Amino acid sequence: MQALGIIGGSGLTRLEALQLHRQEFVATPYGEPSAPLTFGELDGNPVVFLPRHGASHSIPPHRVNYLANLSAMKQAGVERIVGVAAVGGITAAMAPGVLCVPDQVIDYTWGREHTLFSDGLDGVTHIDFSEPYCETLRQDLLRAAGRVGVTVYAGGTYGATQGPRLESAAEIRRMEADGCDVVGMTGMPETSLARELALCYASLALSVNWAAGKNDGPITMAEIQRHL
Ligand code: HPA
Repeated sequence: MQALGIIGGSGLTRLEALQLHRQEFVATPYGEPSAPLTFGELDGNPVVFLPRHGASHSIPPHRVNYLANLSAMKQAGVERIVGVAAVGGITAAMAPGVLCVPDQVIDYTWGREHTLFSDGLDGVTHIDFSEPYCETLRQDLLRAAGRVGVTVYAGGTYGATQGPRLESAAEIRRMEADGCDVVGMTGMPETSLARELALCYASLALSVNWAAGKNDGPITMAEIQRHL
Protein backbone atom coordinates (compact mmCIF):
# COMPACT_ATOMS: atom_id res chain seq x y z
CA MET A 1 0.00 0.00 0.00
CA GLN A 2 1.21 3.51 -0.85
CA ALA A 3 2.32 5.44 2.23
CA LEU A 4 0.40 8.57 3.16
CA GLY A 5 2.61 11.57 3.85
CA ILE A 6 1.70 13.72 6.83
CA ILE A 7 3.36 17.08 7.38
CA GLY A 8 2.74 18.12 10.96
CA GLY A 9 2.41 21.76 11.96
CA SER A 10 2.48 23.55 15.30
CA GLY A 11 1.30 21.15 17.99
CA LEU A 12 2.07 18.12 15.84
CA THR A 13 5.81 17.54 15.96
CA ARG A 14 5.20 13.86 16.74
CA LEU A 15 2.43 11.44 15.88
CA GLU A 16 1.75 9.77 19.21
CA ALA A 17 -0.17 6.84 17.69
CA LEU A 18 2.47 6.09 15.07
CA GLN A 19 4.00 2.65 15.27
CA LEU A 20 7.58 3.58 14.44
CA HIS A 21 9.56 1.62 11.86
CA ARG A 22 12.54 3.87 11.16
CA GLN A 23 13.76 7.41 10.72
CA GLU A 24 15.75 8.46 7.70
CA PHE A 25 17.41 11.70 6.77
CA VAL A 26 16.71 12.32 3.09
CA ALA A 27 19.05 14.76 1.32
CA THR A 28 17.47 16.65 -1.58
CA PRO A 29 18.80 18.83 -4.41
CA TYR A 30 17.07 21.73 -2.64
CA GLY A 31 18.75 21.37 0.73
CA GLU A 32 17.73 19.79 4.00
CA PRO A 33 14.18 19.00 5.02
CA SER A 34 13.01 20.19 8.43
CA ALA A 35 13.75 16.83 10.07
CA PRO A 36 14.42 13.18 9.25
CA LEU A 37 11.42 11.43 7.72
CA THR A 38 9.66 9.08 10.12
CA PHE A 39 8.38 5.88 8.55
CA GLY A 40 5.73 3.97 10.44
CA GLU A 41 2.18 2.71 10.59
CA LEU A 42 -1.03 4.31 11.79
CA ASP A 43 -3.67 1.68 12.40
CA GLY A 44 -1.87 -0.68 10.01
CA ASN A 45 -1.58 1.96 7.27
CA PRO A 46 1.89 3.05 6.12
CA VAL A 47 2.68 6.67 6.92
CA VAL A 48 5.66 8.95 6.37
CA PHE A 49 5.68 11.81 8.85
CA LEU A 50 7.62 15.07 8.77
CA PRO A 51 7.34 17.88 11.33
CA ARG A 52 7.27 21.09 9.27
CA HIS A 53 8.92 23.24 11.94
CA GLY A 54 11.57 20.66 12.86
CA ALA A 55 11.65 18.01 15.58
CA SER A 56 12.00 20.65 18.30
CA HIS A 57 9.63 23.17 16.67
CA SER A 58 12.40 25.70 16.04
CA ILE A 59 12.00 26.61 12.33
CA PRO A 60 9.68 29.62 11.84
CA PRO A 61 7.19 29.62 8.93
CA HIS A 62 9.26 31.93 6.69
CA ARG A 63 12.39 29.79 7.15
CA VAL A 64 10.85 26.38 6.43
CA ASN A 65 12.46 24.78 3.37
CA TYR A 66 9.14 23.80 1.80
CA LEU A 67 10.83 22.66 -1.39
CA ALA A 68 13.17 20.28 0.46
CA ASN A 69 10.33 18.95 2.62
CA LEU A 70 8.09 18.07 -0.32
CA SER A 71 10.98 16.86 -2.42
CA ALA A 72 12.12 14.52 0.41
CA MET A 73 8.60 13.10 0.63
CA LYS A 74 8.56 12.54 -3.12
CA GLN A 75 11.97 10.86 -3.03
CA ALA A 76 10.60 8.55 -0.32
CA GLY A 77 7.89 7.43 -2.75
CA VAL A 78 5.03 9.38 -1.16
CA GLU A 79 2.34 10.51 -3.60
CA ARG A 80 -0.37 11.81 -1.24
CA ILE A 81 0.26 14.33 1.53
CA VAL A 82 -1.93 15.80 4.24
CA GLY A 83 -0.55 19.11 5.49
CA VAL A 84 -1.78 19.67 9.02
CA ALA A 85 -1.82 23.31 10.06
CA ALA A 86 -2.87 25.55 12.92
CA VAL A 87 -4.83 28.58 11.72
CA GLY A 88 -6.71 31.60 12.97
CA GLY A 89 -10.45 31.70 12.34
CA ILE A 90 -11.72 34.67 10.31
CA THR A 91 -15.30 33.83 9.36
CA ALA A 92 -17.99 32.98 11.92
CA ALA A 93 -17.92 29.21 11.30
CA MET A 94 -14.18 28.98 12.00
CA ALA A 95 -14.28 29.24 15.78
CA PRO A 96 -11.29 27.98 17.75
CA GLY A 97 -11.47 24.18 17.92
CA VAL A 98 -13.04 23.81 14.46
CA LEU A 99 -11.27 21.68 11.84
CA CYS A 100 -11.53 22.55 8.18
CA VAL A 101 -10.42 21.08 4.88
CA PRO A 102 -9.98 24.18 2.71
CA ASP A 103 -10.75 24.15 -0.98
CA GLN A 104 -9.06 27.41 -1.97
CA VAL A 105 -5.99 29.40 -1.02
CA ILE A 106 -4.80 32.99 -1.35
CA ASP A 107 -1.07 33.67 -1.09
CA TYR A 108 0.03 36.78 0.85
CA THR A 109 3.56 35.49 1.50
CA TRP A 110 6.64 37.05 -0.06
CA GLY A 111 10.32 36.28 -0.52
CA ARG A 112 9.96 32.54 -0.02
CA GLU A 113 11.60 29.97 -2.29
CA HIS A 114 8.35 29.14 -4.00
CA THR A 115 8.93 27.33 -7.28
CA LEU A 116 10.84 24.53 -8.94
CA PHE A 117 10.54 26.28 -12.25
CA SER A 118 13.18 29.04 -12.11
CA ASP A 119 16.44 27.75 -13.54
CA GLY A 120 17.64 25.29 -16.14
CA LEU A 121 14.32 25.18 -17.94
CA ASP A 122 13.75 24.09 -21.51
CA GLY A 123 10.84 26.49 -21.55
CA VAL A 124 8.84 28.66 -19.18
CA THR A 125 6.49 26.45 -17.17
CA HIS A 126 3.12 27.37 -15.62
CA ILE A 127 1.15 24.86 -13.53
CA ASP A 128 -2.65 24.93 -13.35
CA PHE A 129 -3.67 25.98 -9.84
CA SER A 130 -7.39 26.71 -10.34
CA GLU A 131 -8.21 24.03 -7.77
CA PRO A 132 -5.18 24.17 -5.48
CA TYR A 133 -5.94 21.08 -3.40
CA CYS A 134 -6.22 17.43 -4.41
CA GLU A 135 -9.96 16.79 -4.46
CA THR A 136 -9.77 13.01 -3.96
CA LEU A 137 -7.65 13.43 -0.84
CA ARG A 138 -9.96 16.19 0.44
CA GLN A 139 -12.91 13.84 0.06
CA ASP A 140 -10.97 11.02 1.78
CA LEU A 141 -10.28 13.33 4.72
CA LEU A 142 -13.93 14.37 4.96
CA ARG A 143 -15.13 10.77 4.78
CA ALA A 144 -12.59 9.66 7.39
CA ALA A 145 -13.69 12.46 9.72
CA GLY A 146 -17.32 11.41 9.22
CA ARG A 147 -16.45 7.81 10.02
CA VAL A 148 -14.90 8.69 13.37
CA GLY A 149 -17.54 11.30 14.19
CA VAL A 150 -15.27 14.35 14.01
CA THR A 151 -16.95 17.51 12.76
CA VAL A 152 -14.98 19.07 9.93
CA TYR A 153 -15.89 22.12 7.89
CA ALA A 154 -15.83 21.05 4.24
CA GLY A 155 -14.24 23.90 2.33
CA GLY A 156 -13.13 27.44 2.91
CA THR A 157 -10.34 29.67 1.72
CA TYR A 158 -6.97 29.56 3.44
CA GLY A 159 -5.11 32.89 3.46
CA ALA A 160 -1.37 32.33 3.80
CA THR A 161 0.52 35.18 5.49
CA GLN A 162 4.24 35.71 5.89
CA GLY A 163 4.55 35.69 9.67
CA PRO A 164 6.03 35.05 12.07
CA ARG A 165 4.09 37.98 13.50
CA LEU A 166 0.34 37.69 13.66
CA GLU A 167 -1.78 40.03 11.53
CA SER A 168 -3.21 43.44 12.29
CA ALA A 169 -6.99 43.74 12.57
CA ALA A 170 -7.01 45.75 9.32
CA GLU A 171 -5.09 43.02 7.51
CA ILE A 172 -7.68 40.49 8.66
CA ARG A 173 -10.53 42.78 7.53
CA ARG A 174 -8.89 42.97 4.13
CA MET A 175 -8.42 39.20 4.01
CA GLU A 176 -12.07 38.67 4.93
CA ALA A 177 -13.10 41.04 2.13
CA ASP A 178 -10.86 38.99 -0.18
CA GLY A 179 -12.82 35.86 0.80
CA CYS A 180 -10.47 34.21 3.32
CA ASP A 181 -12.05 32.01 6.02
CA VAL A 182 -8.88 31.08 7.89
CA VAL A 183 -5.38 32.52 8.15
CA GLY A 184 -2.15 30.60 8.57
CA MET A 185 1.54 31.05 7.82
CA THR A 186 2.53 27.79 6.13
CA GLY A 187 -0.08 26.96 3.50
CA MET A 188 2.00 28.59 0.77
CA PRO A 189 4.20 27.74 -0.96
CA GLU A 190 3.59 24.23 0.43
CA THR A 191 0.37 23.81 -1.56
CA SER A 192 1.70 25.07 -4.90
CA LEU A 193 5.03 23.25 -4.61
CA ALA A 194 3.11 20.03 -4.07
CA ARG A 195 1.31 20.70 -7.35
CA GLU A 196 4.59 21.49 -9.13
CA LEU A 197 5.92 18.14 -7.88
CA ALA A 198 2.71 16.38 -9.04
CA LEU A 199 1.88 15.37 -5.46
CA CYS A 200 -1.72 14.99 -4.32
CA TYR A 201 -1.93 17.45 -1.41
CA ALA A 202 -4.72 18.47 0.96
CA SER A 203 -4.74 20.65 4.03
CA LEU A 204 -6.28 19.81 7.39
CA ALA A 205 -6.50 23.09 9.27
CA LEU A 206 -7.33 23.46 12.94
CA SER A 207 -8.53 26.85 14.14
CA VAL A 208 -6.63 27.66 17.33
CA ASN A 209 -7.68 31.29 17.84
CA TRP A 210 -9.93 33.98 16.47
CA ALA A 211 -7.93 36.02 13.95
CA ALA A 212 -6.83 39.54 14.89
CA GLY A 213 -9.71 41.89 15.64
CA LYS A 214 -12.29 39.08 15.71
CA ASN A 215 -12.29 38.88 19.48
CA ASP A 216 -11.78 41.36 22.31
CA GLY A 217 -8.15 41.89 23.20
CA PRO A 218 -4.89 40.47 21.89
CA ILE A 219 -4.26 36.93 20.66
CA THR A 220 -2.37 35.06 23.35
CA MET A 221 -0.04 32.08 23.01
CA ALA A 222 -1.92 30.55 25.95
CA GLU A 223 -5.14 30.52 23.90
CA ILE A 224 -3.35 29.03 20.90
CA GLN A 225 -1.66 26.38 23.07
CA ARG A 226 -4.96 25.41 24.68
CA HIS A 227 -6.48 24.52 21.30
CA LEU A 228 -3.34 22.86 19.99
N1 HPA B 1 -2.66 34.08 12.02
C1 HPA B 1 -1.72 33.44 11.27
N2 HPA B 1 -1.33 32.20 11.52
C2 HPA B 1 -1.91 31.55 12.55
C3 HPA B 1 -2.88 32.16 13.35
C4 HPA B 1 -3.28 33.48 13.07
O1 HPA B 1 -4.14 34.09 13.73
N3 HPA B 1 -3.23 31.25 14.30
C5 HPA B 1 -2.50 30.13 14.05
N4 HPA B 1 -1.69 30.31 12.99
